[in-house]
Amino acid sequence: MSEKHSADVLPGEAPADWWSAKRKAAIRIFRNEGVSGIWRKIGAGGPLEALSRVGDEIRCMQCALICSIWDKRHHTQTSGLIGMEQVSVVGSNKEHGTAIVSISPRMFKFLTRFFPVDRSNATLVDFGSGKGRLALLASTVGFRKVIGVEYSPFAHNIAQENLKNFRAGGDGMSECVFINADAVDFQLPTQGPLMLVFNNPFGLEVWRRVLPNIVSHRKETGENIRLLLSGSMPEVLAPVVQFVRESGHFTEAAQGVSPLFIDSYSRYYYWVFDAA
Ligand SMILES: C[S@@+](CC[C@H](N)C(=O)[O-])C[C@H]1O[C@@H](n2cnc3c(N)ncnc32)[C@H](O)[C@@H]1O
Repeated sequence: MSEKHSADVLPGEAPADWWSAKRKAAIRIFRNEGVSGIWRKIGAGGPLEALSRVGDEIRCMQCALICSIWDKRHHTQTSGLIGMEQVSVVGSNKEHGTAIVSISPRMFKFLTRFFPVDRSNATLVDFGSGKGRLALLASTVGFRKVIGVEYSPFAHNIAQENLKNFRAGGDGMSECVFINADAVDFQLPTQGPLMLVFNNPFGLEVWRRVLPNIVSHRKETGENIRLLLSGSMPEVLAPVVQFVRESGHFTEAAQGVSPLFIDSYSRYYYWVFDAA
């Protein structure tokens, strides 16, 4: 961890990546207790549950490997999963945030089908941009501008570094900026249509404050606004989707479940809404 990240994490240790921590714990148990130790850990629910847990582990390792290859290719550090309890944030919504984890490149590609066809005048805002992978990928698909809003200074600083180092390849990048702020305080840009992406950043409490800002923006500017809500946990998304629907300010444009991609640890559930 670099010096400048050290003040952004809670006292104690550098934030531990959840997957590496799990892998290290398994190696420790195997060294100390051998196969019986591993079996005690995963076999308590019977062989079928053990098999499914091993399958999950293999999938996580596979995703971590593919995403770290993506990082190497693009000169970035976007992989891993860090729990919110390990980092400090700006604002008072820490308890409502999910975790710092990036979208898989193939999942991103799948979701681009919900982006407007003409993006040349549109801005994409990634609410909860983490280490920046989604915003960086979005900056390669023709938006006028991409903005990532992230409340963890730790993740935000990494995203800034990634922006400096990112090698987009192909046709280059749109303008991309990262802002260290709580989503509730972010002011939407007034020029042109908006594609607002919420890749499972936070729960209903924060949505209750973010959605009115979006609705006011629509009333004031009359610009087209599209919302994309996605994530692997339908139980977290369901109340949010209901909240957006019940606001009466949006019409549902699409809804579904993604395929399971080789670089993603889970399918994604998604909903697309257009401002009415
Ligand atoms: C699941 S990650 C998504 C990262 C990124 N959008 C991607 O897909 O690659 C969710 C991110 O939202 C951030 N977050 C949660 N609540 C937030 C809030 N109120 N304001 C800004 N960021 C928030 C978390 O710190 C985390 O980095």
